Amino acid sequence: MIPTLQWTSEGVSFLDQTKLPQVETYVLARNYNEVADVIRNMVVRGAMAIGVSGAMGVALGIQQSTAVTLPDLNAEVEVICDTLAKTRPTAVNLFWGIAQIRDLYNKLAAENVAIDEIKSQVVALAQTLYDEDIANLKVLGAYGADLLPKEGTILTHCNAGALAACGYGSALGVIRAAVERGYKIDVFADETRPFNQGTRLTAWELTKDNIPTTLICDNMAGYFMGQGRIKAAIVGADRIAANGDTANKIGTYSVAILCKEHGIPFYVAAPFNTIDIETLNGKDIPIEERAAKEVTHVNGVQVTPDGVGIANPAFDVTPAKYITAIITERGVLRAPFEESIAAMSKQTK
Ligand code: MRU
Repeated sequence: MIPTLQWTSEGVSFLDQTKLPQVETYVLARNYNEVADVIRNMVVRGAMAIGVSGAMGVALGIQQSTAVTLPDLNAEVEVICDTLAKTRPTAVNLFWGIAQIRDLYNKLAAENVAIDEIKSQVVALAQTLYDEDIANLKVLGAYGADLLPKEGTILTHCNAGALAACGYGSALGVIRAAVERGYKIDVFADETRPFNQGTRLTAWELTKDNIPTTLICDNMAGYFMGQGRIKAAIVGADRIAANGDTANKIGTYSVAILCKEHGIPFYVAAPFNTIDIETLNGKDIPIEERAAKEVTHVNGVQVTPDGVGIANPAFDVTPAKYITAIITERGVLRAPFEESIAAMSKQTK
């Protein structure tokens, strides 16, 4: 299993995704501010991974607090949660992870539980969320594999793999589950400019697992669909609105429209905590704008003329009407998504 992130006695250890695939190295975040930095700088990225990182960051902050009274600790917890919540705006899993620890903290504090006991319970919960992420993605993978063809090429965009989670992955978890069943599938991975999650991360983790993978530039997907080469597309998600509109890595929307035009199923694979029922539709999902340098520079070298305008939205929203199914660990959602999502939200598991 690829060790994307890990709770240790000295802090949270992260596989540095900015250095892959050339160098496999780890960054140790020794306090919650350093956890916030690694999320902001994309040392760790991917919705599920930053969700659990956020939870671990809050737990670490509480564990390291020197507060001796609950009112003092309450004030610190507010600052810790706020700092971590300001790192990245789009993936709802981050806010979910922070809320998991904050809610437990609030409950224990309201019961006047001793500070040492609170510390051990929040740390235990952060570690449980890590284990549950992997377990949920394995269940999700099995649901998704039922939908894939037994052979042929599957297109994916960005990295919704083990690196985007505590392990296994969502979209790539489905592919892993299909391969484990013996399906004869191979993957076409979009390079995913400008951060190149496909080039650097998806290609790395799939080849490491000996899953046949072909890297294509983002603008080649339509060509291969036109040739009849792609049997299905599967992507992850950063936030799914109550009506099924899905925010995912920039370029996902184009893939979905191409699939529609070519009659190819377009699947979204995401754990249920990616669904944000408070956000009614995709228009209300906040889209992160990242630094221009991600577009202007390649490997530290400027490739654009000085003075050109740059736009760098990190995500786009695929309207629900282009989505064939949303695969979660609770089961498979289909249109009308407003109804299927509302019904599934009532299930506890
Ligand atoms: O900016 P990133 O790399 O954190 O964005 C991640 C994505 O958009 C992935 O495609 C994804 O599906 C969400 S994580 C499973």
